Amino acid sequence: MKIASIVGARPQFIKCAPVSRELRKEHEEVLVHTGQHYDHGMSEVFFEELRIPKPDYNLGIGSGTHGRQTGAMLGAIEDVLEKEMPDVVLVYGDTNSTLAGALAAAKLHIPVAHVEAGLRSFDRRMPEEVNRVLTDHASDLLFCPTETAVANLAAEGVTKGVFLVGDVMLDAMNYNRGIAEERSRILEDIGVEPGDYLVVTVHRPSNTDSPEKMAAILGALGEADRSVVFPVHPRTRKYLAGYGLLTKMSENVRLIEPLGYLDMIRLIGHAEKILTDSGGVQKEAYMLGVPCITLRENTEWVETVEAGWNVLVGAGRERIVDAVRHFSPGARQKEIFGTGNASVLIGKILSK
Ligand code: UD1
Ligand code: UDP
Repeated sequence: MKIASIVGARPQFIKCAPVSRELRKEHEEVLVHTGQHYDHGMSEVFFEELRIPKPDYNLGIGSGTHGRQTGAMLGAIEDVLEKEMPDVVLVYGDTNSTLAGALAAAKLHIPVAHVEAGLRSFDRRMPEEVNRVLTDHASDLLFCPTETAVANLAAEGVTKGVFLVGDVMLDAMNYNRGIAEERSRILEDIGVEPGDYLVVTVHRPSNTDSPEKMAAILGALGEADRSVVFPVHPRTRKYLAGYGLLTKMSENVRLIEPLGYLDMIRLIGHAEKILTDSGGVQKEAYMLGVPCITLRENTEWVETVEAGWNVLVGAGRERIVDAVRHFSPGARQKEIFGTGNASVLIGKILSK
C-alpha cells in the first residue's frame, strides 16, 4: 500500500516519527512536508534527532495568513497527490497543514486517515478548532487518542471508521525518554538543578496576540521566585519584540531558542512545574509526572485536568502566581493516553 503522510509543523514531526517507523515495515510511505515550519530549530532538528526519513517533497509554503497559507498548501499538495496517487493520505493533529492535506485528498477521492482525531476545545476562535472539525468530517479513518475524543465525534454523528488507539506522542515519549536522559545536557548547559525550575512555553494566538496577556504572563513569571526556562516559539518572539517586552524580562526568566525534542523532554521531565498553552506539552507533562499549569481557559486534554495533574488558569497574573505557589496534584495518575502502542495499532488498521 502507498501512504502519503502530510506534515508541516513541529508537533507533527514528533507525531509522525513513530508512525512512519511502523508503516515503513510493510508499506511505501511518501512523506510530504508543507514547509509551514522552516527554521532549523522548528523543523530539521526533529528529522535529525528522531531519525525521520527525509521528506520526499518539501513544498516550501512558509508563513502567511490562514487563507493564503492553507490555500497555497492545498494547491501544492494536490499536485503531489495527483502525481503519486496514494491509497490513503495520513494527516496529523490540527494545523493548517492538516486541513490542507485532508481537503486535497478528499477532493481527489483518496481516503483520509486522521491521527489525533476527535479533539475539541469547543472554542471556534482557535484556528486549530476549525481545522479539527473540518478534518474529522473529511476523514474516513479517525484515530482517536482518548475516550473523550471518541465521544466528541459521536456527539457530531461521526461513528464510522473511528478507532481508539491511544496517543502517538506516548509512543514517541517511550522510545525517546531513555535516549534523552543519555544524550541531552540541557540542564547542565542552562545551569538549573533537577526539581528546582519551571519551564514555560507560549505560542497560542489567544495569548501572543494580546500585549496585556503577555505582560501578565511575564509579570507572573517574574514573581515566581525560581529559575524559569522559556524556550521561545518564533511567533512569540516576534510579538514580544513588537510589544517591547523582550528587554523587560525579570532576571529569573531565561529566554532561549526553541529546543530539540530530546532536550525538551529532559527539561520537562526534571522541572518542578510546567506552564504552557501548548497541547503537546500538556500531555508530555502528564506523561513525565510533572504538574502542569495551563495558560488557557479550556483544553482538549480534559482528562489531565480531571486527573488533578493539570490546572487551567488562563492568562491572569494572580491566578498564575497562585498556581505556581500552590498547585499540587493529589491523585495518582491513571492511564489516559493508552499503552504506547498507538502507532502499531494504526499500522494494523491501515493494513486491514
Ligand atoms: C502552528 C499551528 C498550531 C501549532 C503550532 C506548533 C496553525 C494554524 N497553527 O502555529 O496549531 O500548535 O504551529 O508550533 O496551523 N515562524 C518562524 N519560523 C518558523 C515557523 C514560524 O519564524 O519556522 C513564525 C512566523 O513569523 C510565522 C509565525 O511564526 O508567521 C506563526 O507560524 P505558523 O506556522 O503560521 O503558526 P504557529 O503559531 O507556528
Ligand atoms: N517542543 C520542542 N521544543 C520546544 C518546544 C516544544 O521540542 O522548544 C515539543 C514539545 O515537547 C512537544 C511539541 O514540541 O512535543 C509541542 O509542539 P507545540 O507546543 O509547538 O505545538 P502544539 O502541541 O501546541 O500543537
